[in-house]
Amino acid sequence: MFSWTYLDVALLCHPLFAFVTVRQTKMRNKQSNLQYFAFSFLVLFVLRYAFSNYFALPSELLLPVCNTVDQPNPIASIYPNNATGTLNGTIAVLPISLKLARQLIPPQYGILEHAYRALLPSFPKGMYPAIVQALHDHEVQAFGYKIEDFTRTGIEFPFVDMLNDNHTSFKWAPTLLMTAGHEIALKGAEDYGTNTLPATFEPGCDAYRSVPNSKRAGTTYFGARSLEAGAASLSTLFSSTEEEMFPLEFFKNFTNQPTFADGKTCDNMIRLFNTSVSTAPNRIERVKGTVRAHIYPFSGEQEWRNVYGLRLDTSFIENNYLSCESFRGYGDP
Ligand SMILES: *[C@@H]1O[C@H](CO)[C@@H](O)[C@H](O)[C@H]1NC(C)=O
Ligand SMILES: *[C@@H]1O[C@H](CO)[C@@H](O)[C@H](O)[C@H]1NC(C)=O
Ligand SMILES: *[C@@H]1O[C@H](CO)[C@@H](O)[C@H](O)[C@H]1NC(C)=O
Ligand SMILES: *[C@@H]1O[C@H](CO)[C@@H](O)[C@H](O)[C@H]1NC(C)=O
Ligand SMILES: *[C@@H]1O[C@H](CO)[C@@H](O)[C@H](O)[C@H]1NC(C)=O
Repeated sequence: MFSWTYLDVALLCHPLFAFVTVRQTKMRNKQSNLQYFAFSFLVLFVLRYAFSNYFALPSELLLPVCNTVDQPNPIASIYPNNATGTLNGTIAVLPISLKLARQLIPPQYGILEHAYRALLPSFPKGMYPAIVQALHDHEVQAFGYKIEDFTRTGIEFPFVDMLNDNHTSFKWAPTLLMTAGHEIALKGAEDYGTNTLPATFEPGCDAYRSVPNSKRAGTTYFGARSLEAGAASLSTLFSSTEEEMFPLEFFKNFTNQPTFADGKTCDNMIRLFNTSVSTAPNRIERVKGTVRAHIYPFSGEQEWRNVYGLRLDTSFIENNYLSCESFRGYGDP
């Protein structure tokens, strides 16, 4: 893979400096300036090829320097031999028509309407709860090996009957916008068959950013954009609310459903709502706001206003690339 070096950058900038300098100098100095630039370009060029292996920058140095305010992973020492981490961010319910859900979710999978109605008896008739997650993964580690933090977002489809047993709920997560340059995380998602798009985020190294002087209390912003211009984007603007539109149990339920993309393997993300990152003095906050997204499997830009969700941090344990079949009856008492 091609990787940039300091010398590459110097070489690229060189002709520009030369051009600007020569343009601004008097006629009689032009000649000597040009000679100087030609000479130093040559020196850099030789150095670049002589030392190319020594000056290669690790790709993480090209990511913006990230300082997160996220609190440490409180369960790493409890499960040292499992993948653990924290997920800080926002989750919200995006009501869409069942008819649209039926068009978006691959036709071979049923939708377990009775399962979400058991948790949300008054959810509007003919509607389905798609969900948005905008999360910062922090201190993800296993066996004492920690990876760099990263951010991801996407729209997911819970209560999917992927085993065709009319019982076990799975979550279909077809697309993720994910921190560009984070090869481990990008590859990890691609291995599920996820449509994975390297992206830049606002804020770059935290879950969300507060919007100063907002009319509404506790307003925060999050934005993601694919590196490939126009391929995908997602942004959220949420404010605190007292309204309890959906019970906490509903969020616990769908965030803990085994997740798949192409259906070949399943991801078992166990989200814990009771560790120190979620409990006092930290807290799970109810939020209401707007989500704007241009992301597969939706076509064109979509906007959902007055949607309800949670702003929270959770610890998690993740068991990767498992057989989906092994989750038959998962969550049953
Ligand atoms: C979650 O992220 C927000 C925004 O960066 C931060 O204010 C909050 O302290 C974080 N929560 C925890 C428990 O680290
Ligand atoms: C930890 O990993 C082991 C081996 O993969 C697995 O059997 C176990 O269920 C995991 N622990 C939790 C709490 O998920
Ligand atoms: C989610 O709720 C359904 C009831 O609709 C229940 O059968 C299932 O076990 C729950 N899943 C989890 C992971 O708690
Ligand atoms: C699926 O299960 C629900 C609840 O047990 C039941 O009402 C429904 O008729 C079942 N659907 C099929 C196709 O068997
Ligand atoms: C935290 O929640 C998990 C399930 O989500 C449960 O297994 C565990 O016992 C709980 N821990 C405490 C201290 O309540």
